Amino acid sequence: MKIETIVAQAGIGADPEKGSISVPIYHSTTFRHPALGVSTGYDYSRTANPTRKVLEDTAALLEEGCRGYAFSTGMAAVTAVLMLLSPGDHLIVSDDLYGGTYRLLEKVFGRYGVTARYIDTSDLSKVAEAIDPGKTKAIFIESPSNPLMKITDITGVASLAKSNNMLTIVDNTFMTPYLLQPIKMGADIVLHSATKYLGGHNDVLGGIVVAANPEICEKIGFIQNSTGNVLGPQDSWLIIRGIKTLALRMERQQENALKIANWLNERPEVSKVYYPGIAAHAGHEILKTQAKGFGAMVSFKVTDTAFVEKIVNGVKLISFAESLGGVESLITYPAKQTHGDIPKEIRDQIGVTEDLLRFSVGIEDADDLIYDLKQAIEGGNSI
Ligand SMILES: Cc1ncc(COP(=O)(O)O)c(C=O)c1O
Repeated sequence: MKIETIVAQAGIGADPEKGSISVPIYHSTTFRHPALGVSTGYDYSRTANPTRKVLEDTAALLEEGCRGYAFSTGMAAVTAVLMLLSPGDHLIVSDDLYGGTYRLLEKVFGRYGVTARYIDTSDLSKVAEAIDPGKTKAIFIESPSNPLMKITDITGVASLAKSNNMLTIVDNTFMTPYLLQPIKMGADIVLHSATKYLGGHNDVLGGIVVAANPEICEKIGFIQNSTGNVLGPQDSWLIIRGIKTLALRMERQQENALKIANWLNERPEVSKVYYPGIAAHAGHEILKTQAKGFGAMVSFKVTDTAFVEKIVNGVKLISFAESLGGVESLITYPAKQTHGDIPKEIRDQIGVTEDLLRFSVGIEDADDLIYDLKQAIEGGNSI
């Protein structure tokens, strides 16, 4: 079955008795047992909930894994995955990644003896060099990375990881399974901030983990139930509803993103555009072979930091706000928002500098979005 069909049909058949098309929302925390030792399959909603299960099954189907798990947020999903590690374990991590993941690793997992080394995972030789045999247990990738859109050769990293007994973990938030399916490329675990493209409407927080094999699935399920970090039924329903239009939204958003990236590329106020859909982008060719598209996240640097203020204060249609992936376009200032917790010297070193803006392109008309950016860049006092 094609992915467009899987997403549109998400949850159909989940209610065979009544035949409802929209998945029922089971608010019940607990479930009656027909008799001693007999269960309907549901006992207590922390362990399993029928609405959450539809979302989890849909995620597993989309990512082609053995099971899916839904968490309260993307960070809760990342936390559950990192809990697979033990004190003394070492992890290789993409150096350009969501600041919240960096914060979690440094300020929380570091206290429990899990250490991380941040490297440019788009360079396979650097990944190989960073492996500490016996100690490095996993590699955690964001591709495209957040916010500089670096592309990692997931197949290459996964095969390197396998030969060193390491897990490959991919944060697939930016691409979604509609565009990229890391498990098919050898990854062991895929996770999402479902708050972004899966939900798609900036109205629900959620996280997803899908693992490739039953052994890891069981461990993740155990962590989910033990820590109680689950997604509620109402929020599960919102994400199921969001997923139904994932294919349409991604197509429209990436079409808009390409037009905007090309427009930004021509602007004298813009010094660099980071969009993997542009042929000159470093990872363009690799992503072309690994994914069905290039996504809808565009970052760009301006020639003068004064343009940052002009743009974020001047946009009228586009919202200056954190987050990404929704139908509404958002512009973010990574140095002060999403990546503000990364020390400035590290940010400068990797290129998340004060002249960088990140644009989550929505489904609006591309010309309207371009017009909004243009009036913001050109408007007010000239600098
Ligand atoms: C790539 C990526 N992963 C994970 C997260 C964390 O997700 P959440 O905000 O749902 O906790 C984010 C949030 O922006 C993100 O951009």
